[in-house]
Amino acid sequence: MNRDVEKILFTEEQIARRVRELGAALAREYAGKEPLMVCILKGACVFFSDLVRATDIPLSLDFMQASSYGAGAVSSGDVRIVKDVGTPVAGRHVILVEDIVDSGNSLCRLRALFAGRGAASVKICAFLDKKARRTAPVEADYAGYEIEDAFVVGYGLDYAERYRNLPYIGILKRSVYEK
Ligand code: IMP
Ligand code: MG
Repeated sequence: MNRDVEKILFTEEQIARRVRELGAALAREYAGKEPLMVCILKGACVFFSDLVRATDIPLSLDFMQASSYGAGAVSSGDVRIVKDVGTPVAGRHVILVEDIVDSGNSLCRLRALFAGRGAASVKICAFLDKKARRTAPVEADYAGYEIEDAFVVGYGLDYAERYRNLPYIGILKRSVYEK
């Protein structure tokens, strides 16, 4: 285990099992709809690449990046589009794939953006859901796990761009960000 990690919340095996379930659920729900799955960079990149391979139906992919926390552990509440999708969205069934829903600010904004572009539907699939921290009126339609209010890293999630490559999800030691 990485020495900056306090405790492992989800092991590689638990993650893989849950991702297979989510992919199967998406495949059932979107059969015949050829959804557009949108990876919200950077955090969702690891989850996304596992999820699309677990979703065994015709679909297309695109990528989008919204501004995040910067180097800190507290959201600024401000959301900015850094990179937009290139795929025409009108009439498409869009699935926004996120690593984690925290305040919900970013997803609330992104969901409205895709709805405004004429998507046939917009749903949210997040691997983690910190329900207790929600301030924006948005919920994940599909979620891997609900977690308590702790700062987690790994499986794509970072602190100051580090730890994204950990294959498990763990709680970061407070001493790492409270220096
Ligand atoms: P929201 O807009 O407050 O819901 O923030 C969502 C984004 O904040 C996620 O996509 C993550 O990039 C980041 N985030 C929220 N909680 C955590 C965490 O515990 N660890 C790492 N990143 C987090
Ligand atoms: Mg992020």
